[in-house]
Amino acid sequence: MRSSRTVVEPGMPAVVVATGYGGPEVLSMVEVPTPELGPGQARIAVRAAGVNPADHKMYSGAFGTDPAALPLRLGLEAAGVITAVEPGATGPAGPVAVGDEVIVYRASGAYATEIVSPVQSLLPKPASLDWPQAAGLMVGGVTAWHCLAATAVGTGDTVLVHGAAGGVGIMAVQLAAGRGATVIATASPGKHAFLRELGAVPVAYGNGLADRVRELAPDGVDAAVDLVGTDEAVDVSVALVTDRARIATIAAFGRAQQEGIKALGNGPGADPGTDIRTAARLELARLADEGKLRVVVAETFPLASVADAHRLIKQGHTAGKIALLP
Ligand SMILES: NC(=O)c1ccc[n+]([C@@H]2O[C@H](COP(=O)([O-])OP(=O)(O)OC[C@H]3O[C@@H](n4cnc5c(N)ncnc54)[C@H](OP(=O)(O)O)[C@@H]3O)[C@@H](O)[C@H]2O)c1
Repeated sequence: MRSSRTVVEPGMPAVVVATGYGGPEVLSMVEVPTPELGPGQARIAVRAAGVNPADHKMYSGAFGTDPAALPLRLGLEAAGVITAVEPGATGPAGPVAVGDEVIVYRASGAYATEIVSPVQSLLPKPASLDWPQAAGLMVGGVTAWHCLAATAVGTGDTVLVHGAAGGVGIMAVQLAAGRGATVIATASPGKHAFLRELGAVPVAYGNGLADRVRELAPDGVDAAVDLVGTDEAVDVSVALVTDRARIATIAAFGRAQQEGIKALGNGPGADPGTDIRTAARLELARLADEGKLRVVVAETFPLASVADAHRLIKQGHTAGKIALLP
């Protein structure tokens, strides 16, 4: 199998592209000219880029195979240092200037040594986070935030989180616990101790899940968020939660329509939640900075080893975030 190749001179700006549709072997690193700035934009030297399952789905064929879209740039989130911006520029948290350490979300083509981004996508990097953590805060964070807002999870609720040890799940567990909910969290048994540390009551997914959850929640389950998209997650959610408006999925969009539960994100018939997600960014940065929200980085890879990072993320069993380091 051909792995990702580097065709760049050291020190030259480089980006990752998918040159075709297929597996991680279609990823390459290529040299690009230093990006020009347009109005309202900044240039950022990327220190870390977050890896998400959606990045892999972009070129796997899951979202289509339009040859005109190739080569495809990848990467939705990054953290880095501003290297150019017009004087007086203001982002969502106030003025921004050269030298500022920032999170870039939502980014476009974040798998790169340098990116150009609208200033409106720049959030101050929480000082307490290192670069890989900062790069991995936002996709999981805003998605989890949207799920909990859509299902109105609050104090006294018991919420079932499916796929709780993943990039989105770790955020959902902590944010739900922070809202005063009891969190029952599905994961493979090896991750249960870790989920307990985050404030959840862990439970193994697989046959008999509904009964195990009933035992853990004798007074019932008020809401459920499906972060994995299996039939089991949807079936158990509708069996245990009476109010379908309090069940959300970010991955089982077809089932959501059939069952009358909420589909969230950029899928057919789903609610993208753009305003909720955009507004959540500053809150997430604040919580992380105050030590109330952990970003768990499972593994980091050099940018040139992007194909190895994607071989890992596509297995669907990482505990936390994967980050690429240019
Ligand atoms: N709609 C949106 O807005 C949106 C946003 C972000 C992500 N997503 C999608 O949501 C999904 C999760 O994203 P992520 O970043 O959290 O992925 P991730 O970091 O790869 O995590 C996947 C998690 O799923 C768990 N898992 C695997 N099989 C499972 C099963 N049968 N039952 C329960 N849990 C299982 C794994 O835990 P174990 O190792 O314990 O199995 C793993 O921790 C992906 O499909 C992604 O594309 C959608």
